[in-house]
Amino acid sequence: MEKTFAINVDGHEHTITADPAMPLLYALINEFGKKGPKFGCGLAQCGACIVLQDGVAVRSCVLPISAVSGRVRTLDGLGTEDEPHPLQKAFIAEEAGQCEYCVSGWIMTATALLEENPIRSDGEIRRALTGLKCRCGAHMAILRAIKRAAAEMAVAQGIQAR
Ligand code: FES
Ligand code: FES
Repeated sequence: MEKTFAINVDGHEHTITADPAMPLLYALINEFGKKGPKFGCGLAQCGACIVLQDGVAVRSCVLPISAVSGRVRTLDGLGTEDEPHPLQKAFIAEEAGQCEYCVSGWIMTATALLEENPIRSDGEIRRALTGLKCRCGAHMAILRAIKRAAAEMAVAQGIQAR
């Protein structure tokens, strides 16, 4: 039976009436018009659908709408064309996206990691990204972009990246 849920996405309050088992990703794409998170595997195995739930990266393809709590943040709400987030700037600078289908997963996962603390070792970054997939094979450019953004975010906080 359908129920009505209230969800805050990218700072906006939404209500949606849906089957409680419907994945959050479906609501984000079909009801709220989000373009960042993508449907890849639908099985929590690729990361294309990742969004943040209260700052924690979650795979929205397997998160039932009834289990959503707190504030949801998507790639759409990260920055604007005039004021992109450091990760968005870095992905452009490093040409880290080819088809860009996977980009939401990498950027949102890195956002959670670097906003908690931008001083991260190579190993910490690689561990955080474990399980994410890029079928275009842009992994090295993606790593460069994340390190570039980490350095910018560290400088913005007045600390020196390692
Ligand atoms: S679409 Fe969610 S992990 Fe692949
Ligand atoms: S850039 Fe195409 S899947 Fe990653």
